[in-house]
Amino acid sequence: MEKIRLFQEVFGQMPTLDVSAAGRINLIGEHVDYCGGLVMPASLNLCCRVIARRNGTHFVNVYADDLKVTATLDLNDLEAARSLGWGKYQAGVLDVMKKAGARLVGCDLYYSCSVPFGSGLSSSAAIEVATAVAMYELTGEAYDLKETAVLCQKAENEFCGVNCGIMDQFASAMGKKDSAILLNCKTLACEYIPFALGKYELIVANCNKPHALVTSKYNERRQEVEEALSLLKREVPEASCLADISPARFEEAKHVLSGKILDRATHVVYECARVKEAADALKAGDIRSLAALINASHDSLSKLYEVTGKEPDALAYAARETEGCIASRMIGAGFGGCTISLVEKGKTEAFKEAVGKKYAKETGYMAAFYDTSIEDGVKVKHL
Ligand code: GLA
Repeated sequence: MEKIRLFQEVFGQMPTLDVSAAGRINLIGEHVDYCGGLVMPASLNLCCRVIARRNGTHFVNVYADDLKVTATLDLNDLEAARSLGWGKYQAGVLDVMKKAGARLVGCDLYYSCSVPFGSGLSSSAAIEVATAVAMYELTGEAYDLKETAVLCQKAENEFCGVNCGIMDQFASAMGKKDSAILLNCKTLACEYIPFALGKYELIVANCNKPHALVTSKYNERRQEVEEALSLLKREVPEASCLADISPARFEEAKHVLSGKILDRATHVVYECARVKEAADALKAGDIRSLAALINASHDSLSKLYEVTGKEPDALAYAARETEGCIASRMIGAGFGGCTISLVEKGKTEAFKEAVGKKYAKETGYMAAFYDTSIEDGVKVKHL
């Protein structure tokens, strides 16, 4: 109710719509979505909520309730919003929707986002998906959530300059309560697996190191794996992406690679194989095996893909040394952000305290721990 009242304070009218799109965690399958690999994300209770009404103009006013600022986007000149900080993601989505032939209407949008920014929990995807869904619901146009995810990814690639894969937008749009999504990023086929961790609980922790250069380093990794693929094609001409190459085939062909390019490709090929095993383990309730794969994923991201950095490593390793914890790894793009840990139920409070202390001692940063649950990705309520 509180946010509805605040909407009225900001925009002077009653809203008609309340939608939200989720942030996500990723159990395993990191930095493989843009290589056509399998990933296993799940949508969180942390989400981007948008409260909205049509305003009868050709302007879209986007208000951020944490920053307390409004950006005004002109539907006839969305390009002008490219240089914005706040408002750019929304403009990107509207621009791509417009180019795809969707009807757009002027509206007032009130954003309240509980996904921490820059945390590796996909606040940008949550903003994008919530914006698209709000616009479709305001115009009454029919839409498909899978297509909406693809459209939002396109906005981030083309309008915001982040060459991201599909995982985040897909998880935000297609997530289901208490389910992990086993997503094939080459075909976009997906399967839901019950998110059942037996006697363990999932703990999300933020290393709270302000991350720099994520976009440039992320785009650099993408170039490196594209280079790896083009070299490997000499040996494996039938491969259309790195995920097409099995570990056995990779071992025969990898002599065409060297140095960092070899390391990057090794991460991708083996991470893809780990996701398959992890899916089987989760389905079988074999959480110990899942944990070993999650740990191996982090070690590979740290040593071969080099996207963790001092703080995410310190946080993951402090977790693993702590009583009751059987797995911990960095999630998302890296260079900061969050970890997930599997911790025995009943030991989670002591875990948070011990890890927080160890991590602060080692890095000087205070970790944050979130109360999370796995919820539906998109929620829509007409008021
Ligand atoms: C970011 C991107 C995703 C994915 C992850 C790494 O979150 O947006 O597409 O590549 O990094 O797995």
